[in-house]
Amino acid sequence: AGGLAALLLPSGASVGADARIVAEYIQSPDIMEAIDEEMGIFLHFSSREHDSISRLAADATRDERLSYWRWAVKPSFDPETGIIALSVKAYDPATAKNLAEAVLAKSEALVNAMSRRAAAVIAAQVVSKPECVLGLATGSSPIGAYKKLIQWYQAGALDFSACSTLNLDEYVGLTPDNDQSYAYFMRQNLFDHINIKPENLNIPDGTNPDAAGECARYDGVIEAFGGADLQLLGIGRNGHIGFNEPGSVFVRGTNCVQLTQSTIDANKRFFAREEDVPRKAYTMGIGGIMMARRVVLVACGEDKAEAVAKTVSGPITPEVPASILQLHRDFVLIADEAALSQLEK
Ligand code: F6R
Repeated sequence: AGGLAALLLPSGASVGADARIVAEYIQSPDIMEAIDEEMGIFLHFSSREHDSISRLAADATRDERLSYWRWAVKPSFDPETGIIALSVKAYDPATAKNLAEAVLAKSEALVNAMSRRAAAVIAAQVVSKPECVLGLATGSSPIGAYKKLIQWYQAGALDFSACSTLNLDEYVGLTPDNDQSYAYFMRQNLFDHINIKPENLNIPDGTNPDAAGECARYDGVIEAFGGADLQLLGIGRNGHIGFNEPGSVFVRGTNCVQLTQSTIDANKRFFAREEDVPRKAYTMGIGGIMMARRVVLVACGEDKAEAVAKTVSGPITPEVPASILQLHRDFVLIADEAALSQLEK
């Protein structure tokens, strides 16, 4: 299977002269192969109900099946669950009659492709500079990349023992052992599974009630490193990065933010009740993010499409915090088709 097709956007007037934006579509041979595996399971399952499908599954060669599915598989994103669904249509090759339609709510294939790209960029950083500083994010976007990094570590390909980390943000008021804290998230999804040293991990301290003191402390940590070598980011539907919400200025340093209703709504699925979602967070500021030598933003799904389009080709404005990335010298965007769907062609 070949690599992903890379689409290099022309650096026209809409894209900052220095910004190197690589958008990577996920329609590629290796994805189709992964979908093929899932489709095999789907067809097997559906064949109990659909006679004609079972014939298609049994009779068609692998290449034939792939060619039907190439245009019959359509990804969509459910913002409620965070699941990317593949709607699948199976056609009778002779009559082109629609045989069945189903939503395959398991979308590992799509998420895997993006995650592999993001993980590869991080792995390259760790290999080329073992003592690197990795800027890390939480949320659903980076989880797949973390899984890949864990797999590669377990396979002996990566050594994190000299790495340090700088996490973007933390909820105010949650202790590190609260299962909704970002410290907990990072341990669960990455740190507990690799050989990174606890003393090299940095994340704002959500239990520190002294906001000014905590922000100054964290800025000191970022300054001492001279910024991250690589900063991984997700993006909010409103264009936030870290917890830097839309506003009238780009805030340079680490700051304590009041979360917007849009962010509270997006995060409440993780809490038992909406009232439990913290209202404040400490976040690395825009200055800290821009200090990173390279920024990698992972965006997935249609509900990110507007934010991605504004980030890449809209005006640079604190109303869309991520738009500042147009000025970054080494900005890599890894996105699926849905997240790129509002880009001007
Ligand atoms: C997380 C963070 C946030 C998320 C953003 C997207 O540390 O800083 O900016 O990256 O809210 O979240 P997901 O990936 O869950 O869509």
